Amino acid sequence: MKVLIVGSGGREHAIAAGVAKSRKVDEIFCAPGNAGIAEIAKCVEIGAMEFEKLVSFAKEEQIDLVVVGMDDPLVGGLVDLLEAEGIRTFGPRKNAAILEGSKAFSKNLMKKYQIPTAAYETFTDSKEAIQYLETAKFPIVLKADGLALGKGVLICNTLEEAKEGVKSLMLDKKFGTAGNEIVIEEFMTGREVSVLSFVDGKTIKTMTSAQDHKRAGDGDTGLNTGGMGTFSPSPFYTKEVEAFCNQHIYQATVDAMRQEGREFKGIIFFGLMLTEEGPKVLEYNARFGDPEAQVVLPRMKSDLVEVMEACIDGTLDQVDLQFEDNAAVCVVLASDGYPVSYEKGFPIQGLEKFQDQDTYYCFHAGTALKDGKIVTNGGRVLGITAKGKDLKEARANAYAATDWIQFENKYMRHDIGKAIDEA
Ligand code: AMP
Ligand code: GLY
Repeated sequence: MKVLIVGSGGREHAIAAGVAKSRKVDEIFCAPGNAGIAEIAKCVEIGAMEFEKLVSFAKEEQIDLVVVGMDDPLVGGLVDLLEAEGIRTFGPRKNAAILEGSKAFSKNLMKKYQIPTAAYETFTDSKEAIQYLETAKFPIVLKADGLALGKGVLICNTLEEAKEGVKSLMLDKKFGTAGNEIVIEEFMTGREVSVLSFVDGKTIKTMTSAQDHKRAGDGDTGLNTGGMGTFSPSPFYTKEVEAFCNQHIYQATVDAMRQEGREFKGIIFFGLMLTEEGPKVLEYNARFGDPEAQVVLPRMKSDLVEVMEACIDGTLDQVDLQFEDNAAVCVVLASDGYPVSYEKGFPIQGLEKFQDQDTYYCFHAGTALKDGKIVTNGGRVLGITAKGKDLKEARANAYAATDWIQFENKYMRHDIGKAIDEA
């Protein structure tokens, strides 16, 4: 089989590594990919939003399966275009990817189908939004409706901050049209858990759980980032929590989408908060998490391509989805200054130390090949993942492996997985 993966980050490297393990796969392509992905796939210079070029490439190369890793092309309808040309594609169509593409849509869906989530209102008029805020309880959360690289969420402690937030999202259009509509929702507290799942339109099979660390600095300080590290499984995702989510959240979401005529096939990523009133949905994503994929996929025992094909064919009920009974931790090595501003182009040393393919992984997020050398090429540069028999061992292994890599302005958090000590 020939597989084409669309995307260029650590998530796509982890997907490519999973696809490469499949006994069904002969050749892997990635558009556009990065310097690490290039070691296991042929990278082609086509951007993830260059739909026409992607479709032509897939046709010319007679690709058997396209896997769309990123949210933008999913929300933009790449899957529909590929399917219209008869190309088998893993990922939701445009009318289903709206689950991630519009927060107003997903909140309204949860309300209609009684799926637990924070109380909220939606606004398209900034004056009405401000009127509502004047009698609201603080802190309160403002969210741009559309995609905003995970940065369109503002937690406001005072009315002043919230008014500023409405201005920046709706009037100054800090995230462009993503702020034409906003969701204002109740602030919740609790532990966050990410649960990724495979969905074939009717059946849902959840993967092992994970937890992300979104803030840039140790102790959850600093700005929100794409994610600075993850661990899996989450010890806070107990059997009781799982049973509650099975009963009230997972299948309910898949059924709701079908009911709405928006059959969902692909990955649903449930961002959950474990509140005192029980688990609630913070957000849905229509793709693997990044860096959640870098701890979940290395622990997957089932053949990734077979599971993806079952999602396309509607036969997921026949799949026995299996994960290893161990743990994994991923520490992101970033460029100092991320997520605001940072320098690129520094050579990376130590990559050759990652030889033990079953315990240590070095997923490339922002790297490039320059004059035959691998150099830094983004805010998040590498995801260093290690497994262990338990979370403590995995964390010790991952931090030991971060020392193997050197590049100028290397930055990382030192407390990824610290929460597990409290479990
Ligand atoms: P989202 O993109 O909706 O997941 O939001 C990004 C982050 O903002 C989440 O991971 C939470 O840490 C935080 N957040 C979002 N919504 C809420 C909420 N209603 N209450 C408290 N924190 C929230
Ligand atoms: N790590 C969070 C995300 O992928 O959205």
